[in-house]
Formats: sequence, C-alpha cells, structure tokens
Amino acid sequence: MGGPPDMPGQSFGAHVPHLLLICPRHDILGKFVGLPVALTVVHRPGGDRELEESLALAVVDADFTDPKALLAVAREVHARRPVDAVLGLTELSLRPASVVAEALGARGNSPATLALTQDKAAMRAHLRDRGLGTVAHRVCSTVEEVRALLRGAPAGVILKPVEGNGGTGVHLVRTEAELDRAWAWTSGARTGFAWPQGASASTVLAEEFLTGQEFSVESLSAAGRHQVLAVTRKHTSGAPHFVETGHDLPAPLPPDRHRTVVDAAVKALDAVGYAWGPCHTEVMLAEDGERATVVEINARQGGDQIWELVHHVTGVDMLQGAVLALAHGVLPGPATGHAGGASIRYLTPRPGRVAEVTGVAEALAMEGVIRVGELPSAGDDLVALGDSWNRAGHVVAAGPDPKTAADAADAAAARIVVRTDEEGAR
Ligand SMILES: Nc1ncnc2c1ncn2[C@@H]1O[C@H](COP(=O)(O)OP(=O)(O)OP(=O)(O)O)[C@@H](O)[C@H]1O
Ligand SMILES: [Mg+2]
Repeated sequence: MGGPPDMPGQSFGAHVPHLLLICPRHDILGKFVGLPVALTVVHRPGGDRELEESLALAVVDADFTDPKALLAVAREVHARRPVDAVLGLTELSLRPASVVAEALGARGNSPATLALTQDKAAMRAHLRDRGLGTVAHRVCSTVEEVRALLRGAPAGVILKPVEGNGGTGVHLVRTEAELDRAWAWTSGARTGFAWPQGASASTVLAEEFLTGQEFSVESLSAAGRHQVLAVTRKHTSGAPHFVETGHDLPAPLPPDRHRTVVDAAVKALDAVGYAWGPCHTEVMLAEDGERATVVEINARQGGDQIWELVHHVTGVDMLQGAVLALAHGVLPGPATGHAGGASIRYLTPRPGRVAEVTGVAEALAMEGVIRVGELPSAGDDLVALGDSWNRAGHVVAAGPDPKTAADAADAAAARIVVRTDEEGAR
C-alpha cells in the first residue's frame, strides 16, 4: 500500500497527519501521548475507554474481528477527517488494519503483504520463488503426507499451524514413531480469532527442521525503507515445542554473523513488499554461521517485551517509532539507550496447582532487575509448557553489558520459586 512519496522529513508542516490506531493494548496507550499526530483510536466495544479518550482526537467503537463493521466505522472517521495512515499493533488487528488502509487509500502494509507474513506456507513458497531459501515444506492434510516429507528430512520436520502464533501447535517430529502424537498436537491446535473459545482445527504446515541458533531482527520501515534497530538472541524450551523462554539484546554475535542474520531478514522484508511500521523477523543461523534462514516474519513489534528491551538498549521506542514512521515517513536517527544489554526470562515451573510463590521481593531487590510480571497466584493451575500462553511469569533486567543483563535476569528468575503440587496437573 503506497503513501505519498513526498512526506515531510523530521519536522511536520501545515498538515498534521491523522492516524487510525486499531485497538491497541491498554498497557501501551501511554506511549502515544505527545506525538505530532492526530489520533483516532478504534476501541473494541466493552471495557473502559477513558484512557483512550484522554489522549486521542476521537475514540470510536468497533469490533475489529468483524471486517465489515470495522470498515464501516473507518469510513465514517475518514469522511469526517481524511485518514493518512492505519496502524494495528497486535497480531489479530494486523490484517484488519491492512484491509482498512487499502480501502481508504491510507498508508499501511497491504493485505497481500500481510497474507504473506501470516500464512507461513505462502511465505515459504514466496521466498523460495525469489531464491531466498529452500526450506522443504508442505501443507499436509494427512499424516502420510508428513511421513513422506520426513523421509527426505534427516534432521526431522516441524509441524505447525499455517497461521499460528505464540508457539501454539508447534511440534518437532524426528522419527516416524513420533508422527501420530505430533499430528494430534498440531492439527488440534486452536489459533487466530477462534482462540481461546473456538476449536477450529488448524491447517498443518510441515517444514524441514533447521538447526542452528535462533535470533530475531527488530526493525522499523517507512515507504519500503528498513531500519534495523537490533538483533535479539532467543532462548527456547527446545524440542518438541520450542517455547520461547528468554531473549537477550543485543545478541552476542561477531560482525559477519550479525550481517548474515540481518541480510536474511531485510531481503525477506523486501521480498514480501514490507513497507510500513515495526517488524520482528525470526531467523535461524546455521551452526557454521554461513547461512541464515527466515523462520517467521511478524508484521509488528516483537512480543515478550522485546520492544522494551530495544528501548533500554537503543533508546528507540518502537511504538512511538511506528507512529512516526507511518504518520510522517521518518525513521529514528541514532539514539542512545541507558543500558548496554537487556534481557527477559520466563518462569517455567513444574505443572500442577500453584501452592505458593516465593522469592519475588528478593528478585526485585537484585541489581539490574527492572520488573517481575505475569506471575501466577496460589490456586492457579499450570499445565505442561506447550506454548507461550502457559508460561508463568517473567523477569526483565538490564545492565551495562549483555552478559551482566542476562546473568541478572537468570539469577532473578531462579530466585523466584513457583511451588506447585500434583493436584492441578493435567
Ligand atoms: N523450520 C524450523 N526449523 C527449526 N525450528 C523451527 C522451525 N519452525 C519453527 N521452529 C521453532 O519453533 C518456534 C516457533 O515457530 P514459529 O515462530 O513458526 O511459531 P509461532 O507460533 O509463530 O511462534 P511465536 O509467535 O512464539 O514466534 C521457532 O521460534 C523455532 O524455535
Ligand atoms: Mg515465531
């Protein structure tokens, strides 16, 4: 979706851009105060809209999961004052935002680009056709189709929902004996708008298992130009589900490997026509460091507080940066963060019913720790770690260098004990 190529530079002229923000999370709304932009916020009906009203030009109600209703409301807003750009910052609002942007002729990634980022099979085929990676893959409707792919993939295959996120339904298959269990896990996963109420079976994508170390590239784009802000190192729970358990920023990478990772991400963004706003591209770097392969393109800022880690280390606020990129076409200049490194660690206690949580005050007192969040309470039932939705709390830490930050996050996470008993185990 194109916008006017002649947008203003760092200063804004007579025209104050009008940005339509689709249902942002409440905890980030404060970021939008004081930006040089006229903001209309689409609020999902129900719940409190006081905060939105305090910072926006207007607040309108629309359920963004109903495309017709959203578009009707967006057209009314556009008729009152033309909308220049449309921004969605949560996974489920991305595609609705792109549809509205295209319909209004406003800036925003196109629905075609969004489809390539959210449909992992389409992305694989698209990158392959442009010579950017040859990951064997297949959309499968039977276990037999996975078996056929597995025979030609000595390292194994990963099964995942074609449009999954949050690690829902991810399962590695290394041997034929694991096939049935993995198939049941992935095909039964609930994803997208159906989650958490629905039980829609997912379409299973099987792809060759890539070995190496995993990173993500955090970037902002304006009119198809990309500015890479940081590379993040990812920690996961490993096979079979690879649930994200932590992130370190900046990633400890020598310059040539850093370049390989960034190149893979930026080429993929160009290939899918990524034009506007934040992006979080996950990349697997092969052990020899020679080759990097894109795992996934997320058309938004990284979750798991990665946008916060970026801010601590680079001084760039990706949410404000997203607004300025879309509204004014500018990308952030060099900035300085207050930390040399920042890390997050997730707690992954034994499943069961939570009896008590201890050590929080001690963790908070540790040098470098910024915050502890999302902890479970006594009586909560924790299930075995199968995806990002059932992690149990996190610690954010920063420090003068990446190792100090990572050590602080590790030590604080280890200090907090979520004691569970068997009663609630499933
Ligand atoms: N082809 C692959 N080879 C190796 N590992 C993979 C592959 N595909 C996925 N994984 C592992 O599984 C994890 C989750 O996969 P993916 O990112 O596609 O799912 P997701 O549901 O979008 O996850 P999230 O939203 O948490 O990023 C990856 O971060 C990676 O560790
Ligand atoms: Mg992912």
